[in-house]
Amino acid sequence: MSIVRIGIVTISDRASKGVYVDRGGPAIIEELNRILTTPWQPESRLIADEQPEIERTLAELCDACGCPLVVTTGGTGPAPRDVTPEATEAVCDKMMPGFGEAMRTASLKSVPTAILSRQTAGIRGRSLILNLPGKPTAIAECLGAVFAAIPYCIDLIGGPLLETNPAVIKAFRPKV
Ligand code: MTE
Repeated sequence: MSIVRIGIVTISDRASKGVYVDRGGPAIIEELNRILTTPWQPESRLIADEQPEIERTLAELCDACGCPLVVTTGGTGPAPRDVTPEATEAVCDKMMPGFGEAMRTASLKSVPTAILSRQTAGIRGRSLILNLPGKPTAIAECLGAVFAAIPYCIDLIGGPLLETNPAVIKAFRPKV
Protein backbone atom coordinates (compact mmCIF):
# COMPACT_ATOMS: atom_id res chain seq x y z
CA MET A 1 0.00 0.00 0.00
CA SER A 2 1.26 3.48 -0.79
CA ILE A 3 2.42 5.80 1.97
CA VAL A 4 -0.20 8.07 3.56
CA ARG A 5 0.05 11.63 2.30
CA ILE A 6 -1.20 14.49 4.45
CA GLY A 7 -1.89 17.91 2.95
CA ILE A 8 -0.42 20.87 4.83
CA VAL A 9 -1.57 24.24 3.54
CA THR A 10 -0.24 27.54 4.85
CA ILE A 11 -2.59 30.34 3.84
CA SER A 12 -0.95 33.72 4.26
CA ASP A 13 -0.52 36.71 1.95
CA ARG A 14 2.74 37.72 3.62
CA ALA A 15 4.37 34.30 3.95
CA SER A 16 3.46 33.46 0.35
CA LYS A 17 5.17 36.70 -0.81
CA GLY A 18 8.27 35.96 1.27
CA VAL A 19 7.69 38.89 3.66
CA TYR A 20 8.26 36.39 6.45
CA VAL A 21 9.14 32.74 6.68
CA ASP A 22 6.31 30.23 7.06
CA ARG A 23 6.50 28.78 10.55
CA GLY A 24 3.00 27.26 10.57
CA GLY A 25 3.55 24.55 7.95
CA PRO A 26 6.73 23.23 9.61
CA ALA A 27 4.99 23.34 13.04
CA ILE A 28 2.18 21.13 11.68
CA ILE A 29 4.71 18.64 10.28
CA GLU A 30 6.54 18.57 13.61
CA GLU A 31 3.35 17.98 15.57
CA LEU A 32 2.08 15.25 13.21
CA ASN A 33 5.47 13.53 13.48
CA ARG A 34 5.01 13.49 17.25
CA ILE A 35 1.42 12.21 17.08
CA LEU A 36 1.47 9.64 14.25
CA THR A 37 3.21 6.29 14.24
CA THR A 38 1.81 5.41 10.80
CA PRO A 39 4.40 6.39 8.18
CA TRP A 40 3.27 9.48 6.30
CA GLN A 41 4.61 12.20 4.06
CA PRO A 42 3.63 15.86 3.84
CA GLU A 43 2.20 17.47 0.71
CA SER A 44 2.98 21.09 1.60
CA ARG A 45 1.57 24.20 -0.07
CA LEU A 46 2.09 27.91 0.69
CA ILE A 47 -0.56 30.14 -0.86
CA ALA A 48 -2.13 33.61 -0.57
CA ASP A 49 -5.48 34.42 1.05
CA GLU A 50 -7.36 34.07 -2.27
CA GLN A 51 -10.52 31.99 -2.07
CA PRO A 52 -10.31 30.41 -5.57
CA GLU A 53 -6.66 29.45 -4.98
CA ILE A 54 -7.47 27.96 -1.58
CA GLU A 55 -10.37 25.97 -3.07
CA ARG A 56 -8.19 24.70 -5.93
CA THR A 57 -5.42 23.66 -3.55
CA LEU A 58 -7.77 21.85 -1.15
CA ALA A 59 -9.49 20.04 -4.03
CA GLU A 60 -6.16 19.01 -5.56
CA LEU A 61 -4.86 17.62 -2.26
CA CYS A 62 -8.08 15.66 -1.65
CA ASP A 63 -8.80 14.44 -5.19
CA ALA A 64 -5.49 14.20 -7.06
CA CYS A 65 -3.08 13.55 -4.15
CA GLY A 66 -5.55 11.36 -2.22
CA CYS A 67 -4.71 12.91 1.16
CA PRO A 68 -7.06 11.47 3.83
CA LEU A 69 -6.28 14.52 5.97
CA VAL A 70 -5.62 18.10 4.87
CA VAL A 71 -4.63 20.60 7.58
CA THR A 72 -4.69 24.33 6.86
CA THR A 73 -3.19 27.15 8.90
CA GLY A 74 -4.20 30.80 8.64
CA GLY A 75 -7.00 32.89 7.21
CA THR A 76 -9.60 31.95 9.81
CA GLY A 77 -10.04 35.34 11.48
CA PRO A 78 -12.43 38.25 10.97
CA ALA A 79 -10.25 40.41 8.66
CA PRO A 80 -11.51 41.05 5.11
CA ARG A 81 -8.82 38.80 3.54
CA ASP A 82 -9.54 35.86 5.91
CA VAL A 83 -11.51 33.40 3.75
CA THR A 84 -10.18 29.95 4.67
CA PRO A 85 -13.45 28.75 6.30
CA GLU A 86 -15.45 29.94 3.28
CA ALA A 87 -13.10 28.08 0.90
CA THR A 88 -13.28 24.98 3.09
CA GLU A 89 -17.05 25.02 3.13
CA ALA A 90 -17.20 25.57 -0.63
CA VAL A 91 -15.22 22.40 -1.39
CA CYS A 92 -16.71 20.13 1.29
CA ASP A 93 -19.62 17.70 0.94
CA LYS A 94 -20.46 18.06 4.62
CA MET A 95 -19.24 20.16 7.49
CA MET A 96 -17.93 18.84 10.81
CA PRO A 97 -18.49 21.85 13.09
CA GLY A 98 -17.54 19.99 16.27
CA PHE A 99 -13.86 20.22 15.38
CA GLY A 100 -13.90 24.03 15.30
CA GLU A 101 -15.95 24.20 18.49
CA ALA A 102 -13.57 21.90 20.38
CA MET A 103 -10.43 23.69 19.16
CA ARG A 104 -11.81 27.12 20.09
CA THR A 105 -12.90 25.87 23.51
CA ALA A 106 -9.42 24.47 24.18
CA SER A 107 -7.68 27.61 22.87
CA LEU A 108 -9.92 29.92 24.91
CA LYS A 109 -8.35 28.46 28.04
CA SER A 110 -5.05 30.07 27.06
CA VAL A 111 -6.00 33.12 24.96
CA PRO A 112 -9.20 35.21 24.91
CA THR A 113 -8.72 36.08 21.22
CA ALA A 114 -9.20 32.38 20.32
CA ILE A 115 -12.82 33.37 19.81
CA LEU A 116 -11.73 35.36 16.76
CA SER A 117 -10.96 32.18 14.83
CA ARG A 118 -13.77 30.84 12.61
CA GLN A 119 -11.79 27.59 12.09
CA THR A 120 -13.91 24.66 10.98
CA ALA A 121 -13.60 21.22 9.37
CA GLY A 122 -15.39 19.23 6.71
CA ILE A 123 -15.40 16.14 4.54
CA ARG A 124 -14.62 16.10 0.85
CA GLY A 125 -14.90 12.57 -0.55
CA ARG A 126 -12.50 10.45 1.50
CA SER A 127 -10.67 13.43 3.00
CA LEU A 128 -11.05 15.40 6.21
CA ILE A 129 -10.10 19.07 5.92
CA LEU A 130 -9.20 20.76 9.21
CA ASN A 131 -8.56 24.49 9.70
CA LEU A 132 -6.08 25.77 12.28
CA PRO A 133 -5.42 29.42 13.11
CA GLY A 134 -2.34 31.12 11.67
CA LYS A 135 -0.46 31.39 14.97
CA PRO A 136 2.23 28.70 15.14
CA THR A 137 1.61 28.38 18.89
CA ALA A 138 -2.03 27.43 18.15
CA ILE A 139 -1.04 24.36 16.18
CA ALA A 140 -0.10 21.88 18.92
CA GLU A 141 -2.90 23.20 21.11
CA CYS A 142 -5.58 22.75 18.44
CA LEU A 143 -4.37 19.38 17.11
CA GLY A 144 -4.09 18.13 20.69
CA ALA A 145 -7.72 19.09 21.35
CA VAL A 146 -9.20 17.03 18.50
CA PHE A 147 -6.73 14.48 17.18
CA ALA A 148 -8.08 11.59 19.30
CA ALA A 149 -11.19 11.60 17.06
CA ILE A 150 -9.43 12.00 13.70
CA PRO A 151 -8.34 8.38 13.01
CA TYR A 152 -11.89 7.08 13.55
CA CYS A 153 -13.32 9.89 11.42
CA ILE A 154 -10.96 8.81 8.62
CA ASP A 155 -12.00 5.15 9.13
CA LEU A 156 -15.64 6.19 8.68
CA ILE A 157 -15.01 7.98 5.37
CA GLY A 158 -13.07 5.05 3.90
CA GLY A 159 -9.55 6.35 4.43
CA PRO A 160 -6.43 4.50 5.58
CA LEU A 161 -5.78 3.31 9.13
CA LEU A 162 -3.99 6.05 11.06
CA GLU A 163 -2.24 5.00 14.24
CA THR A 164 -0.97 7.33 16.95
CA ASN A 165 1.61 7.26 19.71
CA PRO A 166 -0.60 6.77 22.79
CA ALA A 167 1.92 8.65 24.93
CA VAL A 168 1.06 11.76 22.86
CA ILE A 169 -2.55 11.19 21.71
CA LYS A 170 -4.56 8.04 22.26
CA ALA A 171 -6.76 7.54 19.19
CA PHE A 172 -10.33 6.73 20.27
CA ARG A 173 -12.19 4.10 18.25
CA PRO A 174 -15.56 3.10 19.75
CA LYS A 175 -15.80 -0.68 20.07
CA VAL A 176 -18.10 -2.27 17.50
N1 MTE B 1 -5.89 30.02 18.91
C1 MTE B 1 -4.85 29.69 19.69
N2 MTE B 1 -4.80 28.46 20.19
N3 MTE B 1 -3.84 30.55 19.95
C2 MTE B 1 -3.84 31.83 19.43
O1 MTE B 1 -2.89 32.58 19.69
N4 MTE B 1 -5.03 33.46 18.04
C3 MTE B 1 -6.36 33.95 17.69
C4 MTE B 1 -7.28 32.91 17.09
N5 MTE B 1 -7.02 31.58 17.60
C5 MTE B 1 -4.94 32.22 18.61
C6 MTE B 1 -5.95 31.27 18.37
C7 MTE B 1 -6.37 35.17 16.87
S1 MTE B 1 -5.57 36.52 17.55
C8 MTE B 1 -7.01 35.26 15.65
S2 MTE B 1 -7.16 36.73 14.84
C9 MTE B 1 -7.68 34.08 15.09
O2 MTE B 1 -7.20 32.88 15.69
C10 MTE B 1 -7.58 33.94 13.59
O3 MTE B 1 -6.25 33.77 13.16
P1 MTE B 1 -5.91 33.49 11.62
O4 MTE B 1 -6.67 34.49 10.80
O5 MTE B 1 -4.43 33.66 11.54
O6 MTE B 1 -6.35 32.09 11.28
